Amino acid sequence: MNVLTFDSDEKLNEACANMITSLVQTNPHAVLGLATGGTPVGIYEQVVRDYQRGFVSFHEVTSFNLDEYVGLPSDHPESYRSYMRKHLFAHIDLQPAQAHIPDGNEADLEAECRRYDQLIEDVGPIDLQLLGLGHNGHIGFNEPAHALLRGTHIVELADKTRQANARFFDRPELVPRHAITMGVGTILQAKMIVLVVRGADKAEIVNRALNGPITTECPASLLQTHPHLVVLLNEQAGKLL
Ligand code: GLP
Repeated sequence: MNVLTFDSDEKLNEACANMITSLVQTNPHAVLGLATGGTPVGIYEQVVRDYQRGFVSFHEVTSFNLDEYVGLPSDHPESYRSYMRKHLFAHIDLQPAQAHIPDGNEADLEAECRRYDQLIEDVGPIDLQLLGLGHNGHIGFNEPAHALLRGTHIVELADKTRQANARFFDRPELVPRHAITMGVGTILQAKMIVLVVRGADKAEIVNRALNGPITTECPASLLQTHPHLVVLLNEQAGKLL
């Protein structure tokens, strides 16, 4: 595990964007695993800047997003599809047919989970998986549990997760109760994982995830077993390490 701590969010964004763009420069057919939430916004801004400067093309890249809310219309401003369009896809040349996000509006969600796993198996493995971290240690939407699932599945969101994400919605009760998420097995199959965490409010969970026992009660702790894990932190998030 390689842990890097940055004294500014700008430097963190540049370092992470640089990892993504240099991978795509060396491998134009790279498969990227993408995350949502507040954490990657500045990283995607920097990736867009790199693209606009002509440093990199995403034309041959394939991407897989980690998760999506269940039952939120895909054109809802807080759907992860809208998020990705707003922060990344609308500004780079990634082909829409190659930018995959699980569909939380499919009538048969079990079939959608199987379709998504099959697609990742056919096109993958994921070369670089970007991850944020939930306050309870969740990755994607894999919430703490006695057991975790390997593949894509439907989850009931933890109260803590719904509270944390309420800031994006007009009213807390509008946060969906379920989501579709890539499983930890698929996440761990990525060739390289980049976990990004910012903020003092996550310092404790960062410490538990990286130094605590490996347990499904803290899904991010499973990342300790990955042979190529890079952790990018701002100083506040890394203050308890
Ligand atoms: C969200 C997402 C995760 C994200 C995490 C942290 O709910 N499903 O993929 O990494 O929670 O979010 P944030 O970056 O907004 O703190």
